[in-house]
Amino acid sequence: MPAEITPAVQSGKALGSVMFLDGQGELPMLKVNTAWSTAEIYLHGAHVTHFKKKDEPGLLFMSQCSRFAEGQPIRGGIPVIFPWFGPREGMGQHGFARVTAWELKEFIPAADGSVSVRLQLPDSPEGSAYPPFTAVYTITVKDDLTLRLDVTNNSEIESLTFENCLHSYFEIGDIKEVSLIGLKGAKYLDKVSQFAEKTESADAIRISSEVDRIYLNTTSTVEIQDSRLGRKICIEKHGSTSTVIWNPWIAKAQQMPDFGNDEYLRMVCVESGNVSSNQIILPPGETSKLEVKLSSESL
Ligand code: BG6
Repeated sequence: MPAEITPAVQSGKALGSVMFLDGQGELPMLKVNTAWSTAEIYLHGAHVTHFKKKDEPGLLFMSQCSRFAEGQPIRGGIPVIFPWFGPREGMGQHGFARVTAWELKEFIPAADGSVSVRLQLPDSPEGSAYPPFTAVYTITVKDDLTLRLDVTNNSEIESLTFENCLHSYFEIGDIKEVSLIGLKGAKYLDKVSQFAEKTESADAIRISSEVDRIYLNTTSTVEIQDSRLGRKICIEKHGSTSTVIWNPWIAKAQQMPDFGNDEYLRMVCVESGNVSSNQIILPPGETSKLEVKLSSESL
């Protein structure tokens, strides 16, 4: 796009680039390069599996045991959870978006050096329980990673009720040396204690056993402080009222076929979305926007 090349050269910034490749399992994958970072995005699930700033370890955890196959979710990176979160009777866990091949709509190497990739979920299958909708996911790669999921209710009469969640897996040095900041005072459903309702009392959450919690009505930024890697990760969000924290710990890790026994030590999920009582009821013709910005800096 020559119109974009000129301002980029004038401002002294190199344009980002995108390569279309066969990824693992021969699934189509986009490899993005910018002056600051690299990223990998699978059309399968609109799944970002990799984001790495130059001179920093990768931001996203990926399991060495992940499947890369049609119909199977990828373990790690950022699964897009939509239109439901958790189990659903007679249907798969966490919705169909993460196991569907999304369509590539466009990629934009912009004049500021960033690259945006826009993907769209194919129309929902005939007979689906949902009124017609459009789901568009825009991933912007630069010195940080911004993810935006726009869902439009195309029905003229029916509301669209759904849950969404960007299920980010973060790479950490050691779970025992990590603190999560920003959820003090929030109410949460503790899935490890049969969804008991609790209130977060810690300024800094530390993890030393299985954790699976849905924090409700939470809109603020969460920080992961990782003293082993000497890094702070910021998860800043808009259009999200739920935060899910998950680490499977030892026993669950051993039960998961697509997750290594010791991998719980190097990951934590901090997920941003709208789930459970925070589900979205979208009136006809309206669009909901969920935006998450992931950034990092030295501690
Ligand atoms: C989390 C859920 O979001 O995802 C957990 O809160 C679940 O309950 C985890 O175990 C992983 O789910 P899945 O389907 O990817 O194994």
